[in-house]
Formats: sequence, structure tokens, C-alpha cells
Amino acid sequence: MQALLDEILDAVRPLIGQGQVAQYIPALAEVNPCQLGIAALSVEGELFTAGDAYTPFSIQSISKVFSLVQAIQHQGEAIWQRLGHEPSGQAFNSMAQLEYEQGRPRNPFINAGALVVCDINHSRYAAPTLSMRDFVRRLTGNTQLMCDEKVAESEYQHRARNAAMAYLMQSFGNFENDVESVLRSYFHHCALAASCVDLARGFSFLAHQGVCLHSHERILSLRQTQQVNAIMATSGLYDEAGNFAYRVGLPGKSGVGGGIVAIVPGRFSLCVWSPELNHSGNSLVGMAVLEQLSERIGWSVF
Ligand code: DON
Repeated sequence: MQALLDEILDAVRPLIGQGQVAQYIPALAEVNPCQLGIAALSVEGELFTAGDAYTPFSIQSISKVFSLVQAIQHQGEAIWQRLGHEPSGQAFNSMAQLEYEQGRPRNPFINAGALVVCDINHSRYAAPTLSMRDFVRRLTGNTQLMCDEKVAESEYQHRARNAAMAYLMQSFGNFENDVESVLRSYFHHCALAASCVDLARGFSFLAHQGVCLHSHERILSLRQTQQVNAIMATSGLYDEAGNFAYRVGLPGKSGVGGGIVAIVPGRFSLCVWSPELNHSGNSLVGMAVLEQLSERIGWSVF
């Protein structure tokens, strides 16, 4: 495995330069695009790393999985009264569908859906931002894990599109809390900084029947774990979920910071990071790494 990770990273490095670092969040546009790392954690607890696996980066939409898990933990199936679990076939920040579907987002991983999930968590926690940070610290085992305040503020300053979606949902009666406060929390979740190793550890429960590998804490039931993996497989990469299923064949979740988490149920949790994105906002080199790895090991779940 170790030799394979090194070999694949060397093979894909020439692709750096073909994508573009996220521009619409100014603080992310400053990230060095040449960084590339991967971490793979087996359910037996063996960790394999290559490249910049220990460098923290902005987890962005990968945080949407953690928010969803928090919401499922306290509301279970009831959350689906507020949003769906169908692929959207649209960009992650598209608004068109939201208008003609009366403010009910298609799934929890497009921005509109993540905002509703954040609103659900706001109704439960007195300090939603801290509760999320502590949840991610617990899952990753990294007690130093922090939010990058500069990124969070940069996102808040450029919030027009997310704010428009949240207010649109409010107009349809699908928002319970103060929109600006929920936006603040949402950006703080997206701006959490974690490394590939942190995230491989943080997502071990999805590869391990709902139980966190290092703390042995049950995070979700087996059934809920299968359901979250199913939503990742069908919506985790937005309008590119079909391409990801075709090329990689695993449940996955991307973020505009350039991270992609992938789950090999019963075997591995992985995270790859390369900041340059393709047209759908997913890591261009990260996709290539996961494709090669999945193909070489025969990991596709399909
Ligand atoms: O709200 C946003 O647009 C970002 N904070 C998160 C978007 C994102 O990561 C989409 N991922 N590919």
C-alpha cells in the first residue's frame, strides 16, 4: 500500500497546473496549489500516508458530512421533512432548483441543504460552532483542531449567494433561526482546518459500521452508516457524483479547499488533498489519485 501511494502521487503530480484554486473565497485563492497529500486508514488501524498528509487545509464542504451526522444523531429520520436525499444534478451553489422545489433542498451536501442542516443543529445546540468543532476534534482525535478565522470571515464577507439561498428558504417557511447567525456557523464549519490524516481518522466510523476506530464510540447505527455512505455516493460530489461513481466507485465527499474523503466500507477511510479544482469544484488531482488507487486495488463498490 505504501509503495502504491508513493507511486500514484508521483504519477499524478504532472496534472498540477491544469485546475484552478477556488477563487470565489479570497482567503482560499492564496493557497499554494502545488501541495498534494493522501492518508489511508485501514479498519485494522494501519495508517498509510504520502506527500503533504499532515498539512492542515480548509475542509469546506467535507464539514457537511459532520453536520449531517450531528443532525441525524438528534433528529434521525425527521430531518428528511426539511430536505431530500436525492442527487441534484446541479452545481453545489445552484439556486434554480430551490425556487421551483419550494425551498426544500434536494440533499444535505449542496449548499442549500447544508444550510438547512445547520439550521436544524442551531435549534439544538446553544453554541453550534463550538459543538461542531468539538465533535470533529473527538472524531479525529486531534484536540488542537481549529477553525481558520480568516477563511470564515472571508466567506462571510462574500456570503451573498449562500445568504440568498437561506433567505429564499426562510420565505418558504423552511428556516427556523436567524439567517445571519446560521450563516456564521456554517462558514465556521467550512473553515475548520484539518489534514488528510485528521480526516482519514475522522471518517473511520463510516468505514467501520458506525464506530469510531480510535475512541470505540458509536457515532451512528449500522443502518444510518449505510445511509450516509449512500448519500455520499449519490450526492457527495454534486453534479459530478456520476463521474466519481464511474471513475472511483466509492462513497466520497469533496470540498473547495481541494480535499476529497472516500470510504471503502469495511476496509478503509481515506482523504486526498490537492487544492486545484476542476469545473465542478472538486479536486482535479484528488480525483485522479482516487481513480488510480481504486482501479489498482479493485475498490469500487459497484
Ligand atoms: O459555501 C461555500 O460555497 C463553501 N463554504 C463550501 C463549498 C464547497 O466546499 C463545495 N465543494 N466542492
